[in-house]
Amino acid sequence: MTKMITIRRPDDWHVHLRDGAMLDSVARYTARQFARAIVMPNLTPPVTSVEAASAYRERIMAALPDGTPFTPLMTCYLTDNTDKEEVRRGFEAGVFTAAKLYPAGATTNSDSGVTDVANIRGVLEVMAEIGMVLCVHGEVTSDDIDIFDREAVFIEQVLSPLIADLPALKVVFEHITTQDAVRFVESAPANVAATITPQHLHLNRNAMLVGGMRPHAYCLPVAKRELHRLALRRAATSGSPKFFLGTDSAPHTRDAKESACGCAGIFNAPFALESYLAVFEAEGALEHFEGFASLHGPAFYGLPVNEDTITLEKRDCDVPETIPAGREDLVPFHAGQMLGWAFVA
Ligand code: DOR
Ligand code: ZN
Repeated sequence: MTKMITIRRPDDWHVHLRDGAMLDSVARYTARQFARAIVMPNLTPPVTSVEAASAYRERIMAALPDGTPFTPLMTCYLTDNTDKEEVRRGFEAGVFTAAKLYPAGATTNSDSGVTDVANIRGVLEVMAEIGMVLCVHGEVTSDDIDIFDREAVFIEQVLSPLIADLPALKVVFEHITTQDAVRFVESAPANVAATITPQHLHLNRNAMLVGGMRPHAYCLPVAKRELHRLALRRAATSGSPKFFLGTDSAPHTRDAKESACGCAGIFNAPFALESYLAVFEAEGALEHFEGFASLHGPAFYGLPVNEDTITLEKRDCDVPETIPAGREDLVPFHAGQMLGWAFVA
């Protein structure tokens, strides 16, 4: 008999859907597997106002076939000049679900990010008061900090003091990549959680650098040593409500990736659930897959769980070498590989 897994429909608590032609090409992959997604605001220009977020939400829905049952959850890109009343207004109007902290210069389109969290203290106070989630790209950006240490140093210099200063603020430490982050989140109070990407569960830094530089394994925060990957796998599959699914699917064209200065980001949306499920199976933790994918995220955000279900079937699932995006190509995560589960519906 074919082995199947049926779980409540999952949500993606961190995704880049882009804009324009790229949005038209990629939105369908996220909407196919997920009911809702926290949509990153790092467009050019970034989504910093209620008006811009509403307009972007409409463009996302317009990129999908009419009647697609998908809800984009919008985020406000925080800058040094963010007006706290704009954030409050957007949250109360149901436009903003969360706000995003990019340390200035940390990653793609983060130039307008925050140069010092002290500059947004007033905004964060309002967010703590109204129960709005802060999504954090947790890396310091100073030149003197090695790229492999940037997450651990962020915990020490920024996140730990921030949580002590504003103990009621709900914080998602996004796309964590280290054992340090796992330990920090586990020992933090219940208002601190983390998302984990499929790539950080599958890849360590050797996978990116041994035998040649592999631009399609490059994302930020960059994959770390094997001990960190193992810590992430244990956390994701542990059943702890503090860890949940956030793909960080971040499409860049093949040309932009395979370049002398390749862009950071892995496009994992087309086979995201298949990729995560392979990890849960290998770790002997299939019973915790639904919690990670479909229950812990809504519980943290204070949103209802999805009522419908999805099914994955245990059979070979070939991942194509490329996926078309207009006249360009995207190279999906696991390109050319075979995964052991296939999304049915
Ligand atoms: O690898 C990444 N790509 N990390 C990020 O934080 C941003 C993302 C993007 O937007 O391309
Ligand atoms: Zn991201």
